[in-house]
Amino acid sequence: MRIKTFVASLLVATPLLFTSCSKPAEASAPAAAADSVAPEKMADALFAVMKGTRTAYTKHVIARLGKEKKLIKPHEKWEDKENGVMLPAQMFRYARDLAMEQNPGFTYSLQSEWPINSQNAPKTPKEKEGLQFIGKNPGKNFYGKETLGDKTFFTAVYPDVAVSAACIDCHNDHKDSPRDDFKMGEVMGGVVIRIPMK
Ligand code: HEC
Repeated sequence: MRIKTFVASLLVATPLLFTSCSKPAEASAPAAAADSVAPEKMADALFAVMKGTRTAYTKHVIARLGKEKKLIKPHEKWEDKENGVMLPAQMFRYARDLAMEQNPGFTYSLQSEWPINSQNAPKTPKEKEGLQFIGKNPGKNFYGKETLGDKTFFTAVYPDVAVSAACIDCHNDHKDSPRDDFKMGEVMGGVVIRIPMK
């Protein structure tokens, strides 16, 4: 009798369980759409991921296995070298190309007014304005809107600072670098993040 009651109550409860489980999911979908994230917040979060990944690669792969243990050779022409691995700026670009394939419309890049690779020079007026702004206002980010073709974008620019002697040594000595006087702590360029507004 007891088992029968238990089974009967299960039969009654099961559909209720399913309904109560599916309810919060249904209810949360419109709420999430209404509470959208501000573009500054989204760009700041994306930048944090980019910076974290690049720093982890620089610190735990390039510095540890390259400089300290001499097991790998970080080099611009890494593919031609025995034990060659890409530089952090190149890792950033390869990852970017894959990310952009997955999410067309969204773009980001590491740029500079004094680039080693001329492809990394600012192109749009907003990129130029942003890079000049972060150079003149240390510690500040730049946020703006720009229209390219028939699309409007939220464009954010974050400073890329010479945090170690390796940054300035390599850039100042590089044959393609337009500058040989970068100093520690100076803004060397910036990360430009462009998010489609619609
Ligand atoms: C061993 C050499 C080397 C080191 C160390 C290095 N870079 Fe670079 N960096 C390069 C090269 C080469 C490029 C161009 C890569 C490309 O896009 O083809 C580059 C690209 C850049 C760019 C994009 C503009 C440009 O010059 O093309 C910025 C900004 C930059 N590096 C900043 C830094 C900072 C900040 C550090 C230190 C945290 C650093 N770099 C360390 C070699 C180096």
